[in-house]
Order: sequence, then structure tokens, then C-alpha cells
Amino acid sequence: MSNSPDGKTTGNQSLPDKAWGGVFTEATDRRVEQFTESVSFDQRLYAQDIDGSVAHARMLADVGALTAEEFGKIESGLRQIQREIERGEFEFQTELEDIHLHIENKLTERLGDVGRKLHTARSRNDQISTDLRLWVRGAIDQIDTRLQAVQAAFVNRCDADFDVILPAYTHTQRAQPVLAPHYWLCYCEKLERDRERLNDCRKRVNTLPLGAAAVAGTSINIDREKTAKYLGFERIAANSIDVSSDRDFALEFAFCLVEIALHLSVWAEEWIWWSTSEFYFIKLPQAFCTGSSIMPQKVNPDVLELIRGKTARVIGNLQSLIVLTKGLPLAYNRDLQEDKEPLFDSFDTVNASLTLAASLIAGMILNREAIAARLDEGYLDATTLMEYLVNRGIPQRTAHGVVGRMVRAAMDRNVPLAKLPFDVIQNIEPSLETAVYDVLGADKAVAAMQSYGSTAPEQVRMQIERWKKKIKT
Ligand code: ARG
Repeated sequence: MSNSPDGKTTGNQSLPDKAWGGVFTEATDRRVEQFTESVSFDQRLYAQDIDGSVAHARMLADVGALTAEEFGKIESGLRQIQREIERGEFEFQTELEDIHLHIENKLTERLGDVGRKLHTARSRNDQISTDLRLWVRGAIDQIDTRLQAVQAAFVNRCDADFDVILPAYTHTQRAQPVLAPHYWLCYCEKLERDRERLNDCRKRVNTLPLGAAAVAGTSINIDREKTAKYLGFERIAANSIDVSSDRDFALEFAFCLVEIALHLSVWAEEWIWWSTSEFYFIKLPQAFCTGSSIMPQKVNPDVLELIRGKTARVIGNLQSLIVLTKGLPLAYNRDLQEDKEPLFDSFDTVNASLTLAASLIAGMILNREAIAARLDEGYLDATTLMEYLVNRGIPQRTAHGVVGRMVRAAMDRNVPLAKLPFDVIQNIEPSLETAVYDVLGADKAVAAMQSYGSTAPEQVRMQIERWKKKIKT
């Protein structure tokens, strides 16, 4: 059979040997085969497809739909195919549409009628849902491991960086002084929420679709409890129409990945600024930077920029999935085939970003002197001074005004609050004594903190210990 450029088959037409070909009297147009194929991307699901098929066949043997011998042949045939795919010896062809048909076809080629029994009480609709759920479950576990590695990279810096004070910002203006580990643990908290979200999503992913068949279930006697057990699914989908159409789990996972990418992009943005000569807070490891082809002096934070930039595609992928599923009629529609590429892409992107993030965090060097030299700028201790007045019984709003006038006086003299002469202080607030200087300066302002979750050294120390225990478990 040959094909003309417009894709119409010419010459001797032979009907293709398709799994669904029985009712057809015309061969499929080549362009349709190319347009509808998914094997170019769903071959990634081969291991899940084979695990799903082995579990399904094992269940069929349990209920007597296959003999023990038939099951044995199917299992070893499927595992043989798996090895061939892993060694790159398996040939994928567009005409065979998707990963399911490739594997089943090869099995039947080798086992004949035994292979033809594998698809008993199953449809590709519940099969693809099963494959994708198994894949997402594994992907969740991998992302979770990567998240923990990033948390560990932050926690592992905390002791060494404990004596470093950094300005914290609001509105990108210097606000209050904080311990460096307080920053590191801030990201640990964000990523911990990401872990919780993934864990919650995993519960809904971990539901067995097999047995729903195409849409209505099956008239063949099967045991879904067994299939679920073999695949480690915690529950069985209770409505065959629902599970055939359900991609909520894919959207949820895509959203979890968006949230992670958003957190990483905030961190990337922050460290990009921190690595500029204007901030000069940190040096990034050179192995994680690249140069400019025209400006010889440049060491650019490209990895951080791309972690920030690739967040866009992760967001776009979620958008694609949302639009894809909007208003789809029940139950399975071929549109759903379009769910895989965005999902795979989001996973690959976030997985790579997390891997690089862990190394970047471990290799970052704090420019301690440069940070310390400028800690006097920005009146970081002003809020602590105000609270000192509040602690002495001055109403908060009054104290705010008093300290505002002191900051103004310090600005006029171009000195930090700690260098403001005592007579000037007393002139503004006569009730003050020289002990006021005990809360002035960034280090004293940090030390004066008390509340749970604050940057007080005891509080941060307690949190570091909690995190150290956590990342070990
Ligand atoms: N390739 C399809 C998908 O990804 C598999 C299911 C196809 N089912 C069908 N009845 N054509 O969604």
C-alpha cells in the first residue's frame, strides 16, 4: 500500500489490522492515523500499562476467566515486552495508535488467542485512566522526595548561617531585621504545604478505575477488590460513568505543581535580586550560572531565571487541562487524550527545577561582610523601638508617632537610630532613659523579638530543631 502526498491510500487497498477494525470497510487515512496517534507521548506509560495488565490478568485468573497457565503466559509475555521497551528494542508505529494497542498487539503476535483474552472485561477507557493514575501516583512520590531534598538543603544551612542578620522587606522596602535561617525556614514552610497538598491529592489519585470498562461496567464476573489490591489502590471507583470521564486527579496534580513552581519562582526572584551588585547579599555557585557572549565580565543567574520563567508553562499547562475538560459531555471522549502532554511537561519542568534548586541552595555563599556593612540602613530597628515604648505603657499609635519623629531626626543627621544622641531622643520622648539603646541596632532588634513564629533567636532555634527532626524522618 502506498500513499499519495494528500494522505489518501492508493493502489491495492488492504484494510488495516486494527483492534477495532471489524466494522470498518475502508482503510484509515494516513493523516488520520498521524492526527489521532498518542503513542509518541503515551509510550511513557508503558510500565504502568503493563503493571495494570498484569494485575487485571491476575484477577481474571482468580475468577476463572483465565487458566493459571494462560495467566502465566500473559504475565511473562508482558514482562518480556517491558524488557524490550526498556532496552530500546521495541518498535513503535503510528498505525498502532497508542501504548495499549502496541503492547496488546505484540502479546497477541506471540501468544495468539491467549493474548486476545487479556482485554476481557476491560476497555481502553478504564485502561488509560488506570495507567495515568498509576503514573501520577509515582510522579507525586518523586516530587515529594525532591521537595524534601530542597527543604533539607535549606535546613542544612541553618546552623552555619545562624549569626547572619538580613533585612526583611515589605513593599520591597527594608522593613525589619531577621535571622538568615528565618528566611530559609520560610521556604521550608511553603514547600511543606506543597507536600501536604500532594499527599491529599494522592488519596483521590489512588482509586481503581478498572472494571468500569467503557462506561457502564461489565457483564463479566470480575473482582475489582482484587485488582485494586494488586495495584495498591486504596479504593474502587463507585460509578463507571464518573471514572471514565474523571480527570480531576490530573488537574489537581497539575495545580499542586503550579503551587510548587510559584514558590520556586518567588525564591528564584529573591535570589536573583540578592545576587546583583546592588544587593550583593549572595554569590551563586558558578556551576549554576552562565556567561554572556558579548560582555566578558558577566556571570548570569540563568538557572534561577529559568526556574522563574518555566513557571509560565506550568501555569499554562494547568490552564490547558482546565479548558480541555470544560463542558465535555460524559463520559470518555477522545479529547481526554490531550491531557497527557501538559501533565508530563509540568512534571518534568518542576522535577528539574527542584533538582537544581537543591544544589543551588547548598552551594550559595552569603556575602556576610557586605550584608553586615549595610544593616544600619533603612531603620530596621524602628518597629522594635516603637514596641519598646508600648511595653513602657505608651499607647501604640502615640509610640508610632514618637518613633517617626526620631527616625526623622536620625535622617536629618544621617545616622542610624542607635547613633542618635540621647538628648535628641529625650527631647522627643522625655520619659526615655539610656536603656533605650538596648533595643537599637539590627542585632538587638532581632533579640528583642518574642512571639511564636518570630525571628527571635530562641524561636528560630526551636524551629530549626523541629525541622532537623522532620527531615530525618
Ligand atoms: N489514547 C487514548 C487516550 O489517551 C486511550 C483511550 C482510547 N480509548 C478509545 N476508546 N479510543 O485517552
